[in-house]
Amino acid sequence: MSITIRQVHPHFVGEVSGLDLRRPLDPEQAREIHEAMDRLGVLVFHDQDLSDDHQVAFSRSFGKLELAVGSNVVKPEQRRLRLEMADVSNLDKHGQMLERNDRRRMFNLGNRLWHSDSSFRATPSKFSILSCRSKPSTGGNTEYAFMPAAYEALDQETREEIADLVTEHSLIFSRGVMGFADFSEEERATFEPVRHALVRTNRLTGRKSIYLSSHIGSIVGWPVPEARDFIRDLIEHATQPEFRYVHEWRVGDLVMWDNRQCMHRVRRFRDTGEVRDMRRTTVAGEGPTIEAEAA
Ligand code: OGA
Ligand code: MN
Repeated sequence: MSITIRQVHPHFVGEVSGLDLRRPLDPEQAREIHEAMDRLGVLVFHDQDLSDDHQVAFSRSFGKLELAVGSNVVKPEQRRLRLEMADVSNLDKHGQMLERNDRRRMFNLGNRLWHSDSSFRATPSKFSILSCRSKPSTGGNTEYAFMPAAYEALDQETREEIADLVTEHSLIFSRGVMGFADFSEEERATFEPVRHALVRTNRLTGRKSIYLSSHIGSIVGWPVPEARDFIRDLIEHATQPEFRYVHEWRVGDLVMWDNRQCMHRVRRFRDTGEVRDMRRTTVAGEGPTIEAEAA
């Protein structure tokens, strides 16, 4: 079957047709999708009736998967899904909606801030692959912002200023913005800040991205309030409507994005009143970012 990819936004996002993702990709198809991800940052596939096995198998076509540990406050015995799947639903392991003041729910509300997945890991993720198994009647759109376009729209002075900056990322910072600070000692140790380059370069296209995320809490060598102000300013710049795509989910959609080139966030919905079952697989990145930029 031949793949068709139609760009649906002036800067990024491709809608892919001609593929049934329940079937293994051949190497040529995997290469085409990989190339489109480099160029377009986000790919949308409609009408994919996938099991978790299908989603995991498809995701493995692009590299090693991250396991959903060290990235949430769910205890092993509370897991609903297998380790290869990040559970971004509002459900517990019995399929019941999480209570309003459930710690797991409050922690997950951090996904409503603009972020890049796993930027709090020393080796952050490459791709995220999110499938919609059920959705609320209103709200819960996911928005994406394309960082190469945002980088290219910066003035020369700012591009020079950020060229070699190093940021510190942690889940403690992003959850702190939400007023969630109730971490155990063990969680604090797991969520220790990691350092990343603020500018990353796509090796295939040569385009640079501002590597932003609400997990950023400081810039190395800067006073913290000045760093937070600058990062807030950059995020505001990078998420202007011009650089933004809004995905309105249909059950059976699978959306894949490049975390090295995109930020995303989920919008508000009535999450204690309606089920939203979203399951994410995550392809691991190739290594720490500072070394990669220096190479
Ligand atoms: C994610 C995430 C957004 C959503 O899966 O990484 O941020 O739409 N989810 O649930
Ligand atoms: Mn996310």
